[in-house]
Amino acid sequence: MTTPLVIGNWKMNLLTAPACELAKSLVDQLADVSGVDVVIAPPFTSLYPVGQIIKSSRLCLAGQNFYYESNGAYTGEVALEMLKDVGCDYSLIGHSERRCLFGESDEGVNKKVHHAIDLGITPVVCVGETLEQRNAGATLATIETQLSIGLADLSQEEKPRLVIAYEPVWAIGTGVNATPEQVIEIHKFIRKYLVERLGFSEEVGVRILYGGSVNSENSEQLLREKEIDGALVGGASLNLESFCAIINSAIEI
Ligand code: 13P
Repeated sequence: MTTPLVIGNWKMNLLTAPACELAKSLVDQLADVSGVDVVIAPPFTSLYPVGQIIKSSRLCLAGQNFYYESNGAYTGEVALEMLKDVGCDYSLIGHSERRCLFGESDEGVNKKVHHAIDLGITPVVCVGETLEQRNAGATLATIETQLSIGLADLSQEEKPRLVIAYEPVWAIGTGVNATPEQVIEIHKFIRKYLVERLGFSEEVGVRILYGGSVNSENSEQLLREKEIDGALVGGASLNLESFCAIINSAIEI
């Protein structure tokens, strides 16, 4: 059985003081919790202080994005080596906000996935369709393209290190979550695609998370499904009580 994974994506929210306060409260609240992996992805400016606060706890640190070169003249970018240096073990890759607002491509996602695996950082690769694509019946084709290019050329040893997050763009920040049935359909499709088309072994338990308006009211209904290995949470991860409630609903009883 795979351990569920809950990731809080703080996006571009919280200055360092409130970020550190939330991190401290999470460390306290989760001290006795087990059976779930919990990761938080603060903005770059809070990674170091938050990393110091959580370093002896069960929480792990993630970057929200990085550039795939190790160093050099790339003004405004952050290297994965820098994220690792401040304590990150995970990084989001290809979040829809990066794709839609900043023009990130599947080819760029692929470079980042390889770089992350080379550095021992767990890549959390985000995929998902827009409302237009869903309405046009292009959901599966969209995800297929994102997976086939984004995960190209991984070796058998590299494949188990991945985490995938299915985040339909229409569900992000809208208050309208995908139903468990909609999520299960896509997660099954992703799993089948990984095995049949990308050569993943069936035994490899790649965790597939759901993200998009997950909150303390709908998390239990979503996370009790065995196809859903955890959640990537935006807005609700900024609130201690909601995020802890979501984490608790991910634990298998
Ligand atoms: P919300 O939970 O705010 O909808 O955001 C989801 C998300 O984008 C997490 O990466």
